[in-house]
Amino acid sequence: MAIRHLISWQDWSDSEIRELLDFAIYVKKHRVYFAGHMHGRTMAMLFQKTSTRTRVSFEAGMTELGGHAIFLDWIASNFLLSDIDFEAAYLSTNVSVIMARLKKHEDLLILKKGSSVPLINGCCNLYHPCQSLADILTIALDSPKKIEENRLTYIGVHNNVANSLVEITAALGMHLTLTTPIAQKESISEQAIARAKSKNTVTWEPDIKKAIKDADYIYTDTWVDMEFFNDPNFAKAKEERIQTMMPYQINADLLKHTGAKVMHDMPIHAGFEITREVVESGRSIIFSQAENRLDAQKAIILELLEKSE
Ligand code: CP
Repeated sequence: MAIRHLISWQDWSDSEIRELLDFAIYVKKHRVYFAGHMHGRTMAMLFQKTSTRTRVSFEAGMTELGGHAIFLDWIASNFLLSDIDFEAAYLSTNVSVIMARLKKHEDLLILKKGSSVPLINGCCNLYHPCQSLADILTIALDSPKKIEENRLTYIGVHNNVANSLVEITAALGMHLTLTTPIAQKESISEQAIARAKSKNTVTWEPDIKKAIKDADYIYTDTWVDMEFFNDPNFAKAKEERIQTMMPYQINADLLKHTGAKVMHDMPIHAGFEITREVVESGRSIIFSQAENRLDAQKAIILELLEKSE
């Protein structure tokens, strides 16, 4: 049987994504049932970038499933010195599943080439599929409507999170409005956009007030990739971004024009893309969203191993 990976949603059909969402809901509601399902199994978690949620939720998820997770810091490992596919081939002999957060999507594909166990993309420059599953799981649990009846508006820089939202909403038939004043060509997934265009699920709306008018959920993300946030070489570009993006901040004034709930994948930069007041308000479902990473990761791990055996 072929090995099943989660690199982006491109390799997943609409029905497979919907089944995975349903499974994640089931996993969330029956946490105890899945205790022990990964008994005796190990996950390797390879990080080239910083993380709080992705690391903690995968590690806690493996613990709750009765397995074990090994944290591998890229810099402290021999991924730094050797060919990525050779190191992945070795890892596959000792672990049942690999999760990797790499800077470049191309490197993730090399890791996949060398891996003979399921590989999960823990966020690369182009995609963040695990985040998007948790996001949709959060909406499914929060909303009284069917998932496809909800309208999501993403306000921010077009980035990896936006690409995965474009893909997953297209698969589920859910409408996504993008208000993305900064959309660099190299950050956009044309494949994701093509899927959404074919399903008529995505629209672009530069006017923020129009974009939120019919939204059930408003979503924002950091304006500067965490990799560059404190990088002095990026300081000028960061300042320019802040100038461009400030009119698109999610704040109390903007929320007067909508009843939508507010989402953010975290880490939050309060005072930039969103105010602390909004994060702490009753409109925010941000901390439930972050908590749901745990259930989403468990569903992904179990599904990939089931489909690869
Ligand atoms: N949202 C997210 O991926 O969080 P971390 O970068 O902390 O893992």
